[in-house]
This record gives sequence, structure tokens and C-alpha cells, in this order.
Amino acid sequence: MSTATVDFRIQRRDSAGSPPRWEEFRVPLVPGMNVISALMEIRRNPVTRAGLPTTPPVWECSCLEEVCGACTMVINGVPRQSCSALVESLKQPIELRPLSKFPVIRDLAVDRSKMFSALKRVKAWIPIDGTYDLGPGPRLSAAQQEYAYLYARCMTCGCCMEACPQYHEGSDFIGPAPMAQVELFNTHPTGAMNRAERLDQILGPGGISDCGKAENCVRVCPKEIPLTDALANLYRASTGHWLRSLFRK
Ligand code: SF4
Ligand code: SF4
Ligand code: FES
Repeated sequence: MSTATVDFRIQRRDSAGSPPRWEEFRVPLVPGMNVISALMEIRRNPVTRAGLPTTPPVWECSCLEEVCGACTMVINGVPRQSCSALVESLKQPIELRPLSKFPVIRDLAVDRSKMFSALKRVKAWIPIDGTYDLGPGPRLSAAQQEYAYLYARCMTCGCCMEACPQYHEGSDFIGPAPMAQVELFNTHPTGAMNRAERLDQILGPGGISDCGKAENCVRVCPKEIPLTDALANLYRASTGHWLRSLFRK
């Protein structure tokens, strides 16, 4: 029987707004184990490494295959998904913290609704009237499909927002993920109907001019979404839109 173990250091909070504290745990290593399965083991037997009983840690997860983004946390200082973080590849003790750019609900679970509100603000969708058949819609070339797929892979995990120095509590900046969705919907033949409205939004407070071009966002995106390309394209598009609006006055 294997006696290998894995050590964890987890930042805990009992509720939103309560002060953080650290707890250490040791769990038996199972080959191929990911951070979520280790957390499940701790939840099954919530006793610290010092032998003190504690509350089961709280975190979010759903798909368990790096598709939903719900399990994102800061693992050894890097924002990433806990379902795809294999413990054998991580330096121990493995340190788990909640994302710092969103309010903590409890332990490792955060409230990412700020990011979803930003998606609403920039109308990151294609409006359709479901009351009648709209027909098949425009055909997309293979190149258009490939371009859209680059951005459609976003799972609103929040890693890019966590890494962005311009996205924080004291800033209105909507952040890189909603920006990339503006690029997705503005370059879609049907989504382009609302291009001007989206550009108006990113020209306003908290918009494209708040990006400091640090490029941290693109380095941490687990889906390798070309965030800085999207930002550069949106700079050009929004500047052109603003200039055209001046001549219309
Ligand atoms: S380029 Fe820098 S400032 Fe702009 S969104 Fe990315 S991380 Fe934030
Ligand atoms: S752009 Fe990448 S890092 Fe940012 S929320 Fe989407 S998937 Fe996550
Ligand atoms: S549980 Fe869905 S991305 Fe990890």
C-alpha cells in the first residue's frame, strides 16, 4: 500500500467579509489525482494536519473537464482550473487561494457576477426574436468560423481578470474577457448589427482606454484566447467609430 501523501495550505473564510485564515491538510496521494479530488478527500475527512477538526472546505466545480470555468482558483500563485491541476505536477505544499478580483462567498468560492454584468453591458450576444422562424442566417466561411472559434472558447473562468493589473475593486475597467467577446460578436455577420452599440460601450468609462497593455491576460488564459489581438483590433475599431461619430455631428 502506498504511503505517499500530498500537503495543502488552504486559505479559508467562513463567510463573505470574514477575515482569511490558513489551514494545512495532508491527504493520501492517488496517482493522477487533481486538486478537486484532493479537496473532496479533505471534505470527506475535514481534519487539519495538526489533527484539529474543522469545517469542510467550500469551492465550486461542475464540468470537471476544464470547460465551465467554475473551479478556478489561485493555485501556487497562478490562477487556473483546479479540475485540470494535477497534484503530482505541483510544488508542495500546494497553496490554494480564492480569486482575489471577485468577492469571496466562502473559502475558495467567489462571486463572479461582476464579469457577467460586464458581458451584459457590452451586449455579448446576438439578439434574436424567437417569435418567428428567422431562417438559416448568413453562411460563415471556414475562415470566419475558425476566427469566431478562437473567442467562443471563453468559459468566463476569470483567470485573465485575475492577472490584469487594471482590473480591480477601485477600477471601472470591464476587463479582457468581456472585451474579447465584443470582438467575437462584432466580427460575426449577424452580431455586427449591434457593432456600434458595443463600440459605444467600450469607448465609455471602464472601456478600452483603461487597458494598460500589460499583456498579463493573454499569458494566463487556459484556452489560449488571443486577448491582446482582440484588444488591438478593438482599439482600431473604436477609434474609427469615434472619428466617424465626430463627422456625423
Ligand atoms: S493587456 Fe494588460 S491591462 Fe489590458 S486587459 Fe490585458 S492584462 Fe489587462
Ligand atoms: S478569456 Fe480566457 S482567461 Fe479570460 S475568462 Fe475567458 S477563458 Fe478565462
Ligand atoms: S469544473 Fe469546470 S472547468 Fe473545472
